[in-house]
Amino acid sequence: MVLNSPRGTSDIFGEDIKYRDFIINTAKSLFELFNYSEIITPAFEHTEVFNRSIGESTDIVKKEMYTFFDKKGRSLTLRPEGTAPVIRAVIEHKLYSENLPLKLFYVENMFRYERPQKGRMREFWQAGVEAVGTEEPFIDAEVIWLLNLFFEKLGFKNLKLLINSVGCSICRREYIDIFREFLKPVVKSLCPDCFLRYEKNPLRIFDCKINTCLETLKNSPKIYDFLCTECRQHIGKIMEFLKVIGVNFIIKENLVRGFDYYTRTIFEIISEDLESAQNALGGGGRYDKLIGQFGGPDTPSIGFAVGIDRTIVLMKQLKIKFMEGGKQSRIFIISMRDDFKHYSFKLAKFLRDNNLSCEMSFLEKSVGSQIKNAEKNKFSHVIIIGEDEIKSGIITMKNLKTFEQFKINWKKQLLEFLELFK
Ligand code: HAM
Repeated sequence: MVLNSPRGTSDIFGEDIKYRDFIINTAKSLFELFNYSEIITPAFEHTEVFNRSIGESTDIVKKEMYTFFDKKGRSLTLRPEGTAPVIRAVIEHKLYSENLPLKLFYVENMFRYERPQKGRMREFWQAGVEAVGTEEPFIDAEVIWLLNLFFEKLGFKNLKLLINSVGCSICRREYIDIFREFLKPVVKSLCPDCFLRYEKNPLRIFDCKINTCLETLKNSPKIYDFLCTECRQHIGKIMEFLKVIGVNFIIKENLVRGFDYYTRTIFEIISEDLESAQNALGGGGRYDKLIGQFGGPDTPSIGFAVGIDRTIVLMKQLKIKFMEGGKQSRIFIISMRDDFKHYSFKLAKFLRDNNLSCEMSFLEKSVGSQIKNAEKNKFSHVIIIGEDEIKSGIITMKNLKTFEQFKINWKKQLLEFLELFK
C-alpha cells in the first residue's frame, strides 16, 4: 500500500517553496525593519501552557489540540499557535526585564485538528510578532501597520483590515451581562454549540456561521458601544495614529477572535477572494493580562500572526507575481562527451565557489534537447563543453533569456567571466 501524508498535512515543494521563501523573506526583513528579533520555541509544550492561555472553553482547546502523553505520562501538546509559547519563554528567561518593549518574531509550524479544506490545514505555518511590555496605543497602531504593510509588500491590493476593541475586564463583564440579557428570550433558538457558549463564553457566539444564530445576532448590542472611557480613548488613539500614516481600516463592531487571552484591541486582515470560512489571512490582538496569568509581572502586550499556507493559496489564485531573490543566474553546463565531465566538474566548482548556482547535465541526450531541458527548468545560461573549449580554454555561454552568446577564456579572464552572469 502506498503511504500518503496524514490528512490535513502537505509536502511543500516546487513552485510553493518559491512562494514560501518569498513570503518568509519578506516577513523577516520587514519584522527586522521594525526592530523585531527572532525567537524559536519547541514544537510541543506542556498542555497547561495552552489550556491556561487560550481558554478552556475555546474551540482550539476543546476540539483542536494534538495532545498526547509522553513515556513518563506527562501531558504535552503540539503548539496550535505561537503566542502562548513565546510568552512562556519570555517568563521562563525573564526577558521582560530587558528593555521594553521587547519585540519578538517567529516563523513556525502550528497544529490544529480542524476539518481540512483549501487554506485550512492540520499542520500549517505562521509568521508572527509579539511586542511585549507596553499598552501605549501607538504600539497597537505600529503592529497593525506592520501587518498591513506586510501584505502590501507581497503585492496584495484588495484586502480589508478589520479592527475592534473587546474592552477591558471591567467593561467586557458589563457588556456580557447585557448581551446575555438580550439573548435570554431566544437562547433556545441558538445552535447547540452557541447554546453552550451562552453560559460559558457568550462572545464566541459572534464567530458562529449558522444562519439562525447570525439572524439572532443582527440586532444585538455590540461590545464597541459599551466600552469604558479608557478603552474608548485607547481605540480612538489607535485610529488617529493609523490615519496619520494612511492605513485604511474598518471598525467591525462585532469582530471577535477565538482566544480568551485578548483584551482591548483585536484585528484581522481578510480577503473576500477566499471562501468566507477561511478568509482571514492574519489576525491578532492585545493580551494585557496573559503574562500575569502565567505568573509573571503584569506586562501588557500585543501581536499578530499570518497564515503562510493560506497566503500562498491566495497569491496563486490572484496570480500575484514576485521577483525571486538571490539566485538570478542559474547556469546549466552541458558536456558533449562523457570524458569532458572532469572539465565541467572543475568549472562547476569555480562557479559554486563564487556563489553562482549551476547544474551539470547527467543525461546522454543531444545538445539541442539538453538546451530545451535547461530552458524548461528555468536556467538562465547554458555553457557547452566540447573538445575545442577544453583545448583553447575559450568557452561559449548562451543567455537563455536574451539569446546573446559570449566567448571567453574563463581561466584567464575570471572577473570578466563572473561579470557576465550579473
Ligand atoms: P489565528 O487567527 O488563530 O491567530 O491565526 C492567524 C492566522 O493563521 C489566520 O489568520 C490564518 O491565516 C492562519 N491559520 C489559522 N488556522 C489555520 C489553519 N488551520 N490552516 C491554515 N492556516 C491557518 C493566532 O494564532 C494568534 N496567536 C495570533 C496572535 C499573535 N495574537 C496575538 N499575537
